[in-house]
Amino acid sequence: MNHKTVKEKLDFVKKDKLFLSAGGILFLLITGFIFYDYITPEWKDIQSEFSDIIAEKFGDERAATIRTGLQQTYVKELNVADRCITCHQAMEWKGMENIENPFRTHPKEILEKHPINKFGCTPCHGGQSFATETEAAHGFTEHWEEPLLGKELSDFYVVNNKKAMMQIRCNACHRYEKETKGADAINRAKQLVNEKGCRACHVINGRGGTVGPDLTYEGEKSAEQYNYERNKGFASMFSWHIAHFKNPKELIPETVMPNFNFSSNDAQALAALVMSWKKPTMPIEYIPGHNFRDVPSQEEIEKEERMKNGPGAFFVNKQCFVCHSVSSFGVEAAAQIGPDLALAVEDVQSRFGRTLDDFLMKPTGTMDVVLSTMLPLTKEERLEAIAKLRQAYELKKTELKTAKTRQK
Ligand code: HEC
Ligand code: HEC
Ligand code: HEC
Ligand code: HEC
Ligand code: HEC
Repeated sequence: MNHKTVKEKLDFVKKDKLFLSAGGILFLLITGFIFYDYITPEWKDIQSEFSDIIAEKFGDERAATIRTGLQQTYVKELNVADRCITCHQAMEWKGMENIENPFRTHPKEILEKHPINKFGCTPCHGGQSFATETEAAHGFTEHWEEPLLGKELSDFYVVNNKKAMMQIRCNACHRYEKETKGADAINRAKQLVNEKGCRACHVINGRGGTVGPDLTYEGEKSAEQYNYERNKGFASMFSWHIAHFKNPKELIPETVMPNFNFSSNDAQALAALVMSWKKPTMPIEYIPGHNFRDVPSQEEIEKEERMKNGPGAFFVNKQCFVCHSVSSFGVEAAAQIGPDLALAVEDVQSRFGRTLDDFLMKPTGTMDVVLSTMLPLTKEERLEAIAKLRQAYELKKTELKTAKTRQK
């Protein structure tokens, strides 16, 4: 080895050293930055901003009482470990009502009924329990099926009532109530289910007819179980239900489910309601009234009893009255889905061009489905129905005549 080369080498090493140390500093800076970012994730910035706001508003002493670090509400009974309060620290603070989120006080009344330590956050809001970054916590990430049921999601689905989506969650616990304060969309949908007589064709909470599918746990179905071929909108369960409620035949051409001409708001409310019908996984103390059943009202029971013992008993016992009134027998339908049978003798002739006898022996349309699935009547029973409908018709004619002569 000669000196020159050694010198050159040393020179080189010197340059190299300079170069190396410059690189080293850069490297340190980069790792330092990454490390800094790592030790100060988004929530740390949010927490220090919160602390600053509190200090400014209420003084340093109050600010010093704020708990820092990852915060979590663990509720064993509901199987949730919600870290939302890591960023949403003001939940129960007074005086932060008019600050921007995430620093705003939570609406008070609802938390009084559902304390955070017993309910967490996600049972009402959805979202991702354990995530600690805003996007992820609010659930707008891939493979997470439960985004925050808030404004953003409502805008996405073009839901008019921005509070309707969260009510899907409210009703997981409140489903057996006729009405729940603060769940207006769900309340409206429950009212429609009664008014329109969905139970004529569907079992809901264990009661109802079997012309359509049992809806008791409709919310358990997964998105893949619906057919989107004819669904023009975005292919999701929610939009499928909305389209189906607006016009069942558009999605299922052969269906006998009537088109009730629901408004957009009503169709959305009903979609939220049927999606809330999941199998309860929470312990019974989380179900208001500690009741897993839908109880018919005393009035409903009495009316049914009265009709069961009158001249129209046959139509009550055979469940025809679920869809049909037989007015001259004092039988009143729960929902007027089919026509008043008091006029069937005449009406069948004019609507179907067939005699009543012929129609009931070989029915078409809804009655074909009803008599072949839900209410399979024997030949004798059909003959009995025909005879009774003749009586009802005679009575009705007399009623109409006396009404006319009275008018004269
Ligand atoms: C990393 C911090 C962070 C975490 C964790 C976090 N949030 Fe937020 N949240 C924010 C910020 C910031 C805003 C305000 C900006 C916005 O709306 O995105 C906000 C806004 C909200 C809003 C109002 C906006 C709306 O769409 O109505 C709700 C509700 C909400 N968060 C619920 C939750 C729930 C529930 C969790 C837990 C699953 C949670 N957040 C976890 C940071 C967070
Ligand atoms: C019992 C159900 C329930 C629970 C539990 C619950 N919330 Fe809420 N939260 C609501 C309702 C209802 C609203 C009002 C929504 C509205 O009016 O749009 C609301 C509103 C909010 C808002 C928006 C406040 C505003 O006015 O901008 C945020 C943020 C929020 N909740 C976060 C949380 C966090 C975080 C938790 C857990 C610590 C939580 N909530 C627990 C029902 C609940
Ligand atoms: C995890 C189950 C659960 C969820 C989710 C839930 N609640 Fe409740 N809620 C309860 C229980 C349990 C009670 C206490 C009822 C009782 O004392 O019988 C209650 C009480 C109430 C009350 C007071 C009822 C009264 O008679 O005083 C209202 C109003 C209410 N909830 C509305 C809501 C709304 C609105 C939502 C959705 C934003 C919601 N709840 C979400 C379980 C739940
Ligand atoms: C005359 C009988 C009838 C009445 C009344 C009726 N439905 Fe239906 N419904 C059906 C039939 C049949 C199907 C299956 C074919 C289809 O999807 O349209 C069905 C399907 C459904 C489905 C889709 C179920 C699934 O998973 O595919 C829902 C949800 C539903 N009905 C809700 C309702 C509601 C809510 C009402 C009251 C507003 C109602 N139905 C009234 C007969 C009826
Ligand atoms: C799930 C609801 C439902 C039930 C239950 C039901 N029907 Fe009907 N029925 C209808 C509908 C809807 C029509 C209208 C015909 C159509 O549009 O296909 C109808 C039509 C009829 C008609 C023709 C009436 C006319 O004026 O055109 C007769 C008769 C009839 N039903 C008899 C019965 C009898 C008898 C029973 C009990 C064994 C019964 N229905 C049970 C829904 C029902």
